[in-house]
Amino acid sequence: MVMICLVSAKNAPGVTTTTVALAEIWPRPVLVAECDPRYGDILAGYQQGTGDMTKGLLGLAAIHQRSDITQQVYNFVQPLSPGSEARLLAGIQVPAQAAGVAALWEPLSHLLPSLIVKRRPVDVLVDCGSLHSPHAPLPLIRNADLVLLLTGDHLEHIRAAHDAVQTLTTHLMAARPYADPRWRLAAVVRPSAAQRHNNRKAIQHTLEVDTIAEVRHDERVGAELLGRRHLPGGYLRSAYMRDVKILQASIDQQLSRPAPAARTGHLSLPAGHGEAAHVG
Ligand SMILES: Nc1ncnc2c1ncn2[C@@H]1O[C@H](COP(=O)(O)OP(=O)(O)O)[C@@H](O)[C@H]1O
Ligand SMILES: [Mg+2]
Repeated sequence: MVMICLVSAKNAPGVTTTTVALAEIWPRPVLVAECDPRYGDILAGYQQGTGDMTKGLLGLAAIHQRSDITQQVYNFVQPLSPGSEARLLAGIQVPAQAAGVAALWEPLSHLLPSLIVKRRPVDVLVDCGSLHSPHAPLPLIRNADLVLLLTGDHLEHIRAAHDAVQTLTTHLMAARPYADPRWRLAAVVRPSAAQRHNNRKAIQHTLEVDTIAEVRHDERVGAELLGRRHLPGGYLRSAYMRDVKILQASIDQQLSRPAPAARTGHLSLPAGHGEAAHVG
């Protein structure tokens, strides 16, 4: 049971598309929590309007106004797509609704990492949208087991991602002051066009965080996945979905790394106290 937050720094590098693609091939029970405070695109896009608008953050926020949501979250989830094993906690439709659901970020940051759906523990993939949106789900990011920063490969994207890394590490530090914040942070490259501008190694060097995978620009599958209109038959075996599977394996690898040694350098503890480290 892990909570993984996917977030962007600038533009639209495909956070929602990548989240949906990951969920469809996730090897364990999984829930997508659509917490982008601007646009929840999955009901209108991936589900082509077939989903249930009442099952999602807005319904949950109404409950939260009068009672505890601890035993309620699973009542507001639905299949990610018809017939899909993956589940969805649908987001808001327009930015004006963000203020109404932002009060959920704090309780959800504690509930989602240990969520049970249909009596089974689930991994949760959180679509956080852009880090800099008003009402961004920062409590979820702070409490994530892993934050994935999606970035394009052009200099303008890398510059924005570099800035986002500083912001994200500050938030991660706030939640777990004694652990190396970069241990819970990784980047994923999604080139913004078929032509590459900078390779993964160069981007990793600049960002100074593990850059764990690259998901290709793909006009046939990637660009159509949310719209689902022209997906080629057998798209699950496409090169795009192969990239997504490699990304999934890299995420698991990242999550299974041993925790780094705690940093206690600036702490002077009173004599006789054990190390107050909190790692991972
Ligand atoms: N791998 C890809 N290749 C080509 N187009 C993509 C890819 N991933 C996403 N897109 C397209 O980019 C646009 C933004 O994608 P989206 O997932 O909505 O981004 P975000 O959630 O970051 O705003 C959409 O039109 C989508 O179809
Ligand atoms: Mg999105």
